[in-house]
Parts: sequence; structure tokens; C-alpha cells
Amino acid sequence: MTAPDRAAPAVARTPEELARIRAGLGRTALVPTMGALHTGHRGLIAAARGRADAVVVSVFVNPLQFGPGEDFERYPRAFEDDLRACAEEGVDVVYAPGVEAMYPGEQIVTVDPGPLGDVLEGAFRPGHFRGVLTVVAKLFHMVRPDVAVFGQKDAQQLAAIRRMVRDLAFGVTVVGVPTVRDSDGLATSSRNVYLSGAERTSALALSRALLAGADASVTGPVGILGAAREVLDAAAAGPVPVEPDYLALVDAHTFAEVPPDHRGEAVLLVAARVGSTRLIDNVPLTL
Ligand code: PAF
Repeated sequence: MTAPDRAAPAVARTPEELARIRAGLGRTALVPTMGALHTGHRGLIAAARGRADAVVVSVFVNPLQFGPGEDFERYPRAFEDDLRACAEEGVDVVYAPGVEAMYPGEQIVTVDPGPLGDVLEGAFRPGHFRGVLTVVAKLFHMVRPDVAVFGQKDAQQLAAIRRMVRDLAFGVTVVGVPTVRDSDGLATSSRNVYLSGAERTSALALSRALLAGADASVTGPVGILGAAREVLDAAAAGPVPVEPDYLALVDAHTFAEVPPDHRGEAVLLVAARVGSTRLIDNVPLTL
């Protein structure tokens, strides 16, 4: 079924163009993205629409959050498709600045993510969360949203943004939206387009490992990690190996690993490489 035609969103390319458009909007929700929009993004936009008079989607592949040797150059860029998706989803404004509009000079002042920036994703991608928080802070200043919507798939990013909003008093309501999965269980991600058919089959081990962990939740942290690890170990020995960076059960706010006797809320996280693609996934659990 095709979505009904909607009016094309207004497009702003610079902070000045955006400010002119923003002046005419009421209560506004922002969905920050790096483009290559998929069904997960459509879910974020739907959540935004229900919470404000106007929805702004930003499309900007942020160089500051990519490390040397990461996929900044090859990150998928599909602006015409993104515009079509935004029109179908009833987005009011697409903010798509160039690098020079976001970073007109050297970015000397940046946002320090604190200890959350050094563990798990932060340990494997040094400087990543500093880059994310800096661009999100700039987008908040430019768009001045009442609400900002992010996916729970990037759970550590969401926690870092919530902490920045609280510690730096941004006055923006942050909404987290549950992960959208394809019918085979793979979490939607712009990076999934990198996967060959065989790699995609192997990559399903990530969601299977999380499911195995969730099924073992009555056994506590040791049992959860053991069940998930078993799935990952089998996938590591497969014909297209899954190479895990980490598997961890953490506190949902601090991202510190929970002790073996932990009870209550936690998040089971996995990051792994399949071929040249690095994927992350997670599931919230109650122990
Ligand atoms: O999640 C993303 O797509 C990016 O990290 C974000 C939040 C748009 C910042 O560049």
C-alpha cells in the first residue's frame, strides 16, 4: 500500500533560513537524523507528530561523530528519497545544512559527555559521543524544539542526550521510541544497506542473542549473559563470522555493568562486526 500524497515539507539549508521558518511554527518537535531514512525513522516522526503542532526533521551526516577509518565517506546519502519519506509522513520542515553551515569554523568548544562517553560504544569509538552531543546541542539551539525524539536502538546515545539536557538545562523534552525491527528481527539501521545477503543472515545473531538473554531473565545477570554469549559464540564460528565488540548488561542511566545480584531495570547491549559493517542492538529488561 502506498502512503497518501502530502504537501512537500519546507527545506532549510542554513540556520538563517531555518530561523525564518521556525518563527511561524508553534509547538515544535525535532527528529534529528543522518538521513537514509527507514521505517525506524518513520516511527520517530510518527511519535513526534503526536506531540507537537509542527515536526522538523534534520538531515545531517555529522563528521564530528565519526572517527578516523570509520564510515563517514560511505555513509548512505539519499536526500531525494528522504524528502519523499518526509512528505509521506507529514513532516513540516526538513533542515539539511551543509558542513559549512553547521561548522563554519574549527569547532573548538564541544560538549563533554562525562563518564558515559568512555564506556562501551565510547570505548570502541573514542570521541563519538562528544561529536553526537555537540551536534545535537547545536541543532537544539538552531531549531529550538519543545520536544526531541530519538530511537532507543542507540540506547547509550539516548542516555547521553538525556543527561546533557538535564545537566545543561536545555528545557527540551526528550522522547525515546522503541526499536523498530524488520520481520526477521534485525533492528532497522541506515547501515543495514552495507550487508550482503549472507552477512545479513549472520547479523541476525545479534537480535537472537538479545532474545536468548531476555528469555533467561529470571536467571539473573549471569544466566542472561551466558545465554546471549552462547548464541554469539555459535555465530562467531559460522561461515560469515560475527565478531563481537562487546556484550554487556548495564544500568539504563549510567551504563555501568550491573552486579551479579542485580534486580530491577537493565539493558542488554551488543555490538559486533559482520564483514566490514559494525552493528549495535539492545533490549531493555526487567530482572
Ligand atoms: O542517531 C543519529 O542518527 C545521530 O547520532 C544524530 C542523533 C542525528 C546526531 O548526528
